[in-house]
Amino acid sequence: MNILDIIAKKRDKKILSKEEIEFFVQQYTKGNITDYQAAALIMAIYINGMNKEETTFLTLAMANSGDILDLSTIGKEIVDKHSTGGVGDKISLILLPTIASLGVSVAKMSGRGLGFTGGTVDKLESIPGYKTNIDEKEFIKNVKEIGISMISQTMDIAPADKKIYALRDSISCVENISLIASSIMSKKIASGANKIVLDVTVGSGAFMKNIEQARTLAKEMIEIGNLAEKETVCILTNMEEPLGYSVGNTLEIIEAINALKGNLSDDVKEVVLSLGSYMMKLAGINDNIEANKTNILKNLENGTAYNKFIELVERQGGDISYIRNIEKFKKAKYIEPIYSLKSGFIEEINAEKIGKLACFLGAGRLKKEDSIDNAVGIVFSKKVGDQVKKGDILAFIHANSLEKLEIVKESLLQDISISQDNVGKYKSVIEIIN
Ligand code: URA
Repeated sequence: MNILDIIAKKRDKKILSKEEIEFFVQQYTKGNITDYQAAALIMAIYINGMNKEETTFLTLAMANSGDILDLSTIGKEIVDKHSTGGVGDKISLILLPTIASLGVSVAKMSGRGLGFTGGTVDKLESIPGYKTNIDEKEFIKNVKEIGISMISQTMDIAPADKKIYALRDSISCVENISLIASSIMSKKIASGANKIVLDVTVGSGAFMKNIEQARTLAKEMIEIGNLAEKETVCILTNMEEPLGYSVGNTLEIIEAINALKGNLSDDVKEVVLSLGSYMMKLAGINDNIEANKTNILKNLENGTAYNKFIELVERQGGDISYIRNIEKFKKAKYIEPIYSLKSGFIEEINAEKIGKLACFLGAGRLKKEDSIDNAVGIVFSKKVGDQVKKGDILAFIHANSLEKLEIVKESLLQDISISQDNVGKYKSVIEIIN
């Protein structure tokens, strides 16, 4: 078998066999296939597509490219969660300690932000001292002892996906349903959970721009999950506007801390309750979704979820004095309000554009090697559907460069559109597919 024949086959719109897909994944991971050959094949897949069988073979080959974590010693049903990505998405930070406080064992490996979407690992690392790179043994020990651990994906979990994802990102081949489904599900299968809840985001700030695409992606991931004998539920959520009020690493940690004390924006609350109630159901805690939502809210309001987060941060080496006193977090040099130029109703806050502005300020990275600035970002005072008067504050820009501040200020005024008509609010949870 050789890679040239495989590239030619997909270039000519033919179906690849299990052996050909496995050959590509194994040899590329070992470094025996060059980046330009892999790029040619990925581009051919992007353009000509893959059927469901090919997608499943790709998923399993990537999952088997490294360790398959054995979480059975934890002795409980492990339910994993993954989001297809978004702007201002701090859901894991709020949701996971909360359900851990309700008896769900949480063993979570998260990713870093890439492009205009953020990543949970970057946000956690803005807590001084928090270690996201503990080894697998300590990870499992933490889950056993305190019910939760949140770390970065180790090199040993689906290394083929790591390599292929970085390549896709560098050749504009991310937004393809087969490639996204196999990327996410390979990591979930290798991470050792028995059951999976997926947050499939839809809208300008997501990879899936419309509901039809999101449904197709969701169904494909559920089928792969079922084949791997992992019950999978997909929840389609809105990503037209940023989730919650803040975008930026430290800024989102602060929003998450406030949320864990019961102060949640309506959209964040809806998503947390929905994902959490299904995770609790799959974990075997309670089949009653409404009762689960009530219990999640209770723990967010009575301090139990917040205390579990403190326990997590402390266990992973983080300085909890920052959690207890959010004023300690290092602030950006410039914090500048943006005032509304007219009265009306907020019609659009385009999540993709906001994600790109936050990235430009330094909150995200364009290349994997880029460093990020934890303090910068944007904090909104209004959401879509809110009424505003001329002169009201729409948002605060947190910047460490005057030049960038001015550019973002000008752009932001254009990216927040105001209408004379009341456009209403978005529904945060669009659909549940299982
Ligand atoms: N998240 C992933 O892990 N992989 C993708 O391809 C897209 C989003």
